[in-house]
Amino acid sequence: MSYPFQIKTYEEYQRAYKRSVDDPEGFWADVASSFSWRKRWNKVLDWNFKEPHVEWFSGSKLNITENCLDRHLLNLGNKPAIIWEPNDPEEHHRVLTYRNLYDKVCQFSHVLKNNGVKKGDRVCIYMGMIPELAIAVLACARIGAIHSVIFGGFSAQSIADRLQDAKAEYIVTCDGAFRGAKDIPLKNVIDDALIACPFVKRVIVCTRTRTPVSMIKGRDVWWEDEIKKVETLGLNHFEAEEMDAEDELFILYTSGSTGKPKGVVHTCGGYMVFTAYSFVNVFQYTPGDVHFCTADIGWITGHSYILYGPLASGATTLMFEGVPTWPDAGRLWQIVDKYKVNVLYTAPTAIRSLMGFGLEPFEGTDLSSLKVLGTVGEPINEEAWHWYDEHVGKKRCPIVDTWWQTETGGILISNMAGVTPAKPAHATLPLPGVQPILVDENGVEVTGNPAAGNLCIKAPWPSIIRTTYGDHERCRQTYFSTYENLYFTGDGALRDADGNYRITGRVDDVLNVSGHRIGTAEVENAINMHAGVVESAVVGYPHDIKGQGIYAYVICQDMHTDESHMRLDILQTVSRIIGPIAKPDKIQFVSGLPKTRSGKIMRRILRKIAEGEKNNLGDTTTLLDPSVVEEIAEGKL
Ligand code: WTA
Repeated sequence: MSYPFQIKTYEEYQRAYKRSVDDPEGFWADVASSFSWRKRWNKVLDWNFKEPHVEWFSGSKLNITENCLDRHLLNLGNKPAIIWEPNDPEEHHRVLTYRNLYDKVCQFSHVLKNNGVKKGDRVCIYMGMIPELAIAVLACARIGAIHSVIFGGFSAQSIADRLQDAKAEYIVTCDGAFRGAKDIPLKNVIDDALIACPFVKRVIVCTRTRTPVSMIKGRDVWWEDEIKKVETLGLNHFEAEEMDAEDELFILYTSGSTGKPKGVVHTCGGYMVFTAYSFVNVFQYTPGDVHFCTADIGWITGHSYILYGPLASGATTLMFEGVPTWPDAGRLWQIVDKYKVNVLYTAPTAIRSLMGFGLEPFEGTDLSSLKVLGTVGEPINEEAWHWYDEHVGKKRCPIVDTWWQTETGGILISNMAGVTPAKPAHATLPLPGVQPILVDENGVEVTGNPAAGNLCIKAPWPSIIRTTYGDHERCRQTYFSTYENLYFTGDGALRDADGNYRITGRVDDVLNVSGHRIGTAEVENAINMHAGVVESAVVGYPHDIKGQGIYAYVICQDMHTDESHMRLDILQTVSRIIGPIAKPDKIQFVSGLPKTRSGKIMRRILRKIAEGEKNNLGDTTTLLDPSVVEEIAEGKL
């Protein structure tokens, strides 16, 4: 496969960038021409950020799975599409060629159809990292159903909230999932979620762990049985549904500054074009390379750079079921060696956690196949960057620091491996087609370099968020109303003298814990559900490995309760309501919270205390009761 839109030199980058600004429609029409469309577009782009309304490749028809599968069969049919490494290194790995994957996706498309799923229906997918997860996602896309993958670490309550929001009537899950030493009972969690979701018509359960499950008559069916039925009928090919470029492809829930996660909606045409374009350019993918992204498909990184971007590019993508530290901290290096991985894409939190194990885990592994390293999800500190460069890349591999978001669908700001220069801890330059700007609090553009401000994007790129599911006004409010005619990212950034961006982190009430987005309001709501809690306030604080940790200040009704028990009960409550990923790292019991006279919690002060800057709290005179601050600052954990 060749990639006519692959940019190979710095000069080409500059030229492409200029053209993408001067003639965006011409630029993207050229990129889109390398894909397979059933019908071409009438207009490349139609947009305004007021409503917002963004339409790419209007009037065109396609199916993204024909681009990810069918069109590769002729030349790449016998090439590995997915290499799957199981959690347990003793278990056999699996390789699915493009032909195998195509066959399996077609089969499962029949299964979905036989179970009543139609174009436009929402299908919730709650599975571990096994090939069947990829198959389920692609089968949804093939029949035109909208998939909504939920990460295996979310609780029954979180799943129920999402099922209700998306009005999803179909679920694909597993009996359980293996992750490191753990065995997560996925189907049981789904059963708990479904108590609140009687509208769910069908649950398809794939076997993985053989954990006992209760299969409810008339609602639950086994994946394997359903496949057998399709095989018995001799059903092979499944004719892909013809989709409009702007038909919805998937919903992915993500946290914001309010209590309720929102369903970010991406559509078929633009998402396909941008994920493949960014994949090939940022990682400088060369046919035959093995691409290993360590994310989970439950997050956007897995959607875009394990599945759609690589598969639309005919790449070989490695899917890993387990975690980097099990059975030992050399697991990633063993996998790189075993499959001669060429591109490794992971999160700074994983790098920082592996740094703690020293160099011993590298012993006996050969990392010479590596050509490109990538990071994503949070700012990478210089120490971690240099460790990654020295010990993993052996100073021979460019590191791409890729900045993007669930809402952006794909990488917007990053160096391109070996093409544009890297700079430690900097995402560096925007991809051609992306126009970032920095603005001050009043929305006035900060020009010149160096500069600092809030990061916005001036014009749409093909995989920009289209709406938040079921609530377009929320999409407008959250991203397009803070600054007129700009997409607001929620991140703050610096720009150096050469125009390189350095993302400094969220400027809203969103935390980034181990690369996972968690809203402070969401955690507060969960803590407040506990019967003994009166009120709480949650802030982030710097954490050596996680990047940010969660710090909760909690007022309890009965302050005579045994604090250590109360703490455990609160953690259990948060696990129940959101999931273990949102459990606070620190809980401090307090008798009051610093509030302004109008009743607003002064988080600035709470953040300072959590950061350990107790002597530098700034002006506290506007507080209703300044003595509360002293008590909190003196309080011990
Ligand atoms: C942060 C993950 C610094 C940022 C793809 C953003 C980063 C949020 C980087 C989105 C990076 C992501 N450098 N910060 N390279 N990449 N972020 O939606 O705060 O899970 O807004 O998407 O992660 O997180 P999300």
